[in-house]
Amino acid sequence: MTAMTLTDAPTPAEAVGPLMRGIAVLREISDAGGRTSLSDLVRTTGLARSTVDRIAATFARMGYLRLDSHSAALTPRLMELGNAYLAGLQLPRLLGPLTEQLAEELDESVSLAVPDGDGVRFVHQTTRRRAMSLTFRIGDLLPAERTAPGPLFAVGWGEQEWVRWRERRAADPEDRGFSAVPPRTATDGGPGLEERAARAGKQGWALDDQLIEPGLIALAVPVRGPDGQVVCAVSAVSHTSRHSVGSLRQSLLPRVRKAVAAMERELRQARPAPSAPPAGLAAWTTASKQELGAEFVESLARGLTVLTAFGEGRPELSLTAVAEATGLARATARRALITLEHLGYVASRDRTFRLTPQVLALGCPPLSRTTLPDIATPHLAALVQTVHDSASLAVLTGDDIQYTARVATGRIMSVNITIGTRFPAYAASMGRVLLADLPPKDRAAWLARTELRALTPHTVTAPAELATLLDRAGREGYALVDEELEEGLRSIAVPVRDRAGRAVAAVNVAMHSSRRTAAQCLTEVLPELRATAARIEADLHVAGRFTHISSA
Ligand code: PHB
Repeated sequence: MTAMTLTDAPTPAEAVGPLMRGIAVLREISDAGGRTSLSDLVRTTGLARSTVDRIAATFARMGYLRLDSHSAALTPRLMELGNAYLAGLQLPRLLGPLTEQLAEELDESVSLAVPDGDGVRFVHQTTRRRAMSLTFRIGDLLPAERTAPGPLFAVGWGEQEWVRWRERRAADPEDRGFSAVPPRTATDGGPGLEERAARAGKQGWALDDQLIEPGLIALAVPVRGPDGQVVCAVSAVSHTSRHSVGSLRQSLLPRVRKAVAAMERELRQARPAPSAPPAGLAAWTTASKQELGAEFVESLARGLTVLTAFGEGRPELSLTAVAEATGLARATARRALITLEHLGYVASRDRTFRLTPQVLALGCPPLSRTTLPDIATPHLAALVQTVHDSASLAVLTGDDIQYTARVATGRIMSVNITIGTRFPAYAASMGRVLLADLPPKDRAAWLARTELRALTPHTVTAPAELATLLDRAGREGYALVDEELEEGLRSIAVPVRDRAGRAVAAVNVAMHSSRRTAAQCLTEVLPELRATAARIEADLHVAGRFTHISSA
């Protein structure tokens, strides 16, 4: 059972069946951690194998799933759905920096959560959590009664919400519908939510004293928008080995309150986001039926694309605006919106539509933990298929490069490179493009302190010559290194840049020097390598829009 998509309302006659089934498949893969076998999907969704195959083929064509022989994995591109909600919400952009600052100051994890039905859904997470306890991800949904923010949100509940909450508790006594939390046991819960909400209303803060798991404690304070409505809650999260609930309250509460006051100021002063132009038509919409293939379920693709009409400065849209942004016929957009509203991903008021936090359940929790090596590996594998030489990803650590992902060919190389291998940056192609991107001051300091040892007779060891090579690598956007690290080894590298344009890693292709001339490397390998880096960057920029993607 999946919480919050269970609607008692009968399915509207106009609902788009393929869209409902497609979303069910995405939810299952997301709840399974981002990857699952197709046969498991058949079992968990109850859909026919042929239906699952068509849905998977459609998502693969849209760039949302990667299929291998038996399984399906979510791609970073899928994060564009959750991003559409988070960009419209604005809270991560406006409050993210203050949240990070508070986490730094407290040296504890700090999160932002919004109410989602009778649950609490995370929209921002800092990563200061120690290894001891469960960590939650952007998009994770928790039952309100087992969290610190829950009572704060319940303060605003009416009779209808309380009835719904009681019904859900009765129907799901072990919280099986909340895949992010361990099952509820008889002892969980402490004082009832009603009592905690009443107290939270008076005090303006609330506690979670190990309601999720032993040891995990949290304190939450509500954040109000300019109209006085609670828009989210800030939680400071700790462990009983570091704090008691008493000391959380004593030492953390005043600091969290101060940060919340700054956040509320930020929200009052924020100018409305300029309405970014719609993201543009999805790539598949311009393909012909023949190009899309017989398996492609167009009504599913169209329906899901409706979610991407929303975004920064576009939190609320009319049917006309949705149709315009997606290029869909009005009738098609309308049926998609009716379906999405029925499933709880869209809410409407006065003929305008907005996304709900539930959109984050479409892949965000597992994908918000993606690392750059995870993102790069499938693209490196595709590159190796084309160039038939090994490809790698590396980052700069100190004065070395360190390999963080690698796809090898069967060819024997004398150098034995595995993930974690380090080489001096100055003699490696990936090191050269990374050094070339350093701010001038850092590069000069690096050059001054580094001893350039000859690793082969070809290693460039003259600082001035190396500086010239780095300038050139910076200008041309690649570095080719010939037998400077090891005799017989030639490699070519290009940078991988984050959204801000910083080279956070490099990718290379390495080969025996007898395989190609240096000139052939430029004509045969460099264009493929650049295309690979561009694909990695495209994924990184989507996945990294509202969450920090670790480079290693
Ligand atoms: C968290 O951010 O991980 C968190 C927040 C509130 C809780 C528990 C955990 O009650």
